[in-house]
Amino acid sequence: MSHKKLFIPGPVEVKQDVLDACAVPMIGHRVPEYAELHGACVPLLKQLLYTKNDVFLFTSSSTGAMEAGVRNCAKKGAVACMLGAFSDRWYQISVQNAKKTAKCQVEWGKAIRANMIEDHLKTGEYDCVLLVHNETSAGVMNPIEEIADMMRKYPDVVFVVDAVSSMAGVKIEMDRLGIDVLLAGSQKAFGMPPGLTVCAVSQKAMDRAKTITDRGYYFDFIEMSKFSVKNQTPCTPAVSLLYGLRHQLQKFFKEGLDARFKRHTDLRDTCWAWLREYGFELFPEKSFESVTLTCAANTRKVDVPKWVKLVSERGYVISEGYGKLKNDAFRVAHMADCTVAELKECLGVMSEELKKL
Ligand SMILES: Cc1ncc(COP(=O)(O)O)c(C=O)c1O
Repeated sequence: MSHKKLFIPGPVEVKQDVLDACAVPMIGHRVPEYAELHGACVPLLKQLLYTKNDVFLFTSSSTGAMEAGVRNCAKKGAVACMLGAFSDRWYQISVQNAKKTAKCQVEWGKAIRANMIEDHLKTGEYDCVLLVHNETSAGVMNPIEEIADMMRKYPDVVFVVDAVSSMAGVKIEMDRLGIDVLLAGSQKAFGMPPGLTVCAVSQKAMDRAKTITDRGYYFDFIEMSKFSVKNQTPCTPAVSLLYGLRHQLQKFFKEGLDARFKRHTDLRDTCWAWLREYGFELFPEKSFESVTLTCAANTRKVDVPKWVKLVSERGYVISEGYGKLKNDAFRVAHMADCTVAELKECLGVMSEELKKL
């Protein structure tokens, strides 16, 4: 099978050493070796997220943990912050779980501002906020500091954050920001295969969960917590991925978190410089652009699907605009273990194929 290098916003390129770390003989999940493995991952995750909270490991994609956030944390109702495909999905999840859900919505490319959420919280009708930190479909990164500051005025509201395409690529200080649930799947800035979701949960979120009776079964925080103290999960975990996770986390700390985050801003700057050189503009509103992926507006009106195909034939995979943006934008992801040199290789191929359009 030919190996095309992924510059799409997930799954991303997984390094051979990570694949190798996953490919080890299986163990049972009720033996001490498993607890040791699980117990090695959790403290490193806490360090990565700057938190003392417990961290659960769900064997599911991120959407599972998004549903967990709703089921365990929304009692009166949830405010869904909607700015693109994935945050819109969270609204849908909340509605389909029969929660009263407010739409706090902006058009694609715009960010959610604190005052927009506060307008809903002031009504006193909602006790949960669902915020996607980095909206992957539009390449927008929401102002988490500003929103977190506002949230301090509402101590009874549980703050649930999807950091699916930013966690491990951008510094997110969970405890300082007062985030109650912080989740992300393995296939994005963690640089791992899909199938595992990291979900850190505060005491406040746990206390809320205790007051809700229909939390469901698989994603029940209370049940997860009972097993977490034993460094286990209630059901069979993705053991292979935990081996990969431990390996990756050790690598993160070898690189150094600050160096890792700086590498991500260097990657972003490299991509933006290329856009400027080739006459494209950024799609998101200024100051709210994602660090881990670049969503560019198709200001040159090129045939994006054709270009993406040509680049793919050369062994590099980039993305068209998401959904309705298909031909109006394109996305280049630069997260996880990607180096500036590797990104430049991809951008070089993009330049060559652009000339053929
Ligand atoms: C911001 C964000 N949230 C949620 C999801 C859903 O993730 P999954 O497909 O892993 O369930 C994605 C997927 O790309 C995403 O980018």
